[in-house]
Amino acid sequence: MNYRPFGRLGWQVSEIGFGAWPLGGGMWGEQSDQDSIAALHRFLDLGGNFIDTAQGYGDGRSERVIAKALKGRAGGERVYVATKIPPKPGAWPPSPYDAMADRYDEAYLRQRLERSLRDLGSDCIDLVQLHTWSRAWNHDPSALQALRRFQKEGKILGIGISVPDHDPGAADELMRTGWLDAVQLIYNIFDQDPQVEALPTAKHHGVGVIVRVPFDEGALTGKLTPGSAFAEGDFRRRYFQDDRLERTVRRVEAIRQALGEDEPDLAAAALKFTLKPPAVSTVIPGMRNVRQVEMNTAVSDAAPLSDEVERRLRAHSWRRSNWYAGK
Ligand SMILES: NC(=O)c1ccc[n+]([C@@H]2O[C@H](COP(=O)([O-])OP(=O)(O)OC[C@H]3O[C@@H](n4cnc5c(N)ncnc54)[C@H](OP(=O)(O)O)[C@@H]3O)[C@@H](O)[C@H]2O)c1
Repeated sequence: MNYRPFGRLGWQVSEIGFGAWPLGGGMWGEQSDQDSIAALHRFLDLGGNFIDTAQGYGDGRSERVIAKALKGRAGGERVYVATKIPPKPGAWPPSPYDAMADRYDEAYLRQRLERSLRDLGSDCIDLVQLHTWSRAWNHDPSALQALRRFQKEGKILGIGISVPDHDPGAADELMRTGWLDAVQLIYNIFDQDPQVEALPTAKHHGVGVIVRVPFDEGALTGKLTPGSAFAEGDFRRRYFQDDRLERTVRRVEAIRQALGEDEPDLAAAALKFTLKPPAVSTVIPGMRNVRQVEMNTAVSDAAPLSDEVERRLRAHSWRRSNWYAGK
């Protein structure tokens, strides 16, 4: 496993992090805690040291299962856990007309922070991210001021924002003005827009970058077909609804052709693509079992994507903001 600096926080984090949304069950279908704990242990044994979770993943279940796995480890290991606080109920991503004070006030944030401290079984959280954001709030840093106060109290080490799916630049201004230690965004073979501004801005201002959804919710592993079906309650039913699945599979096939013999393993190539920009600190594929952990962590030790193949993949960028609105 290779490690990269996490912005100005000075951490050395594993290039492959653990995306722990599936561990919450529910929106990703059935998941046993036993499989989750085995996957987490294998990840840590293979040198992984960065885990991304959220209160919203199974209403705290993902956080609790991580706490349980970490409790079972021998001491002396530094594992970075990043979690997320959701806004108060309302539009997701926030409506352009939402006032920040209505979605993230200080008393609410404090109460939510205490909840994560409890569920993670910790008295200090490495990274607290606001789970979504609106660029309309960039002129009003009050939620970030509250997080800075919690930081001074020693309850959190770093502050981040997970930007909305199709607005990767939503927090660029906050990176420039020094409010953020980390940003989490979608970057993958389809979603290349962070190259425009978010990645260079993060690099320039020493902000850690967490890349989420490297497989486009599984599509870029190459295992979906036009006939793939998802269980009741699995959010991918909606994400790939109507003709989206068929169109996605067609595009994935074109990517496979472009990779040819240079990168015969599509899932590995998808991860390598996300690791190519030096601005990226860690990429967090969602994982639910030991097999996925072994496949994904191995990518860090494989030969990186060549510049030539990366250039070929630029042609496969796909802007879908209208199409996936309301995901
Ligand atoms: N707004 C936000 O802040 C936000 C939103 C989304 C995600 N995230 C974070 O980002 C992480 C990653 O995103 P994601 O989980 O949504 O999507 P993803 O990483 O694109 O896809 C993950 C899914 O792909 C499948 N998979 C993983 N490794 C595989 C492999 N080697 N071969 C074949 N299939 C494999 C698994 O699903 P199956 O086993 O079911 O096939 C897994 O759950 C999340 O876990 C979460 O931590 C944050």
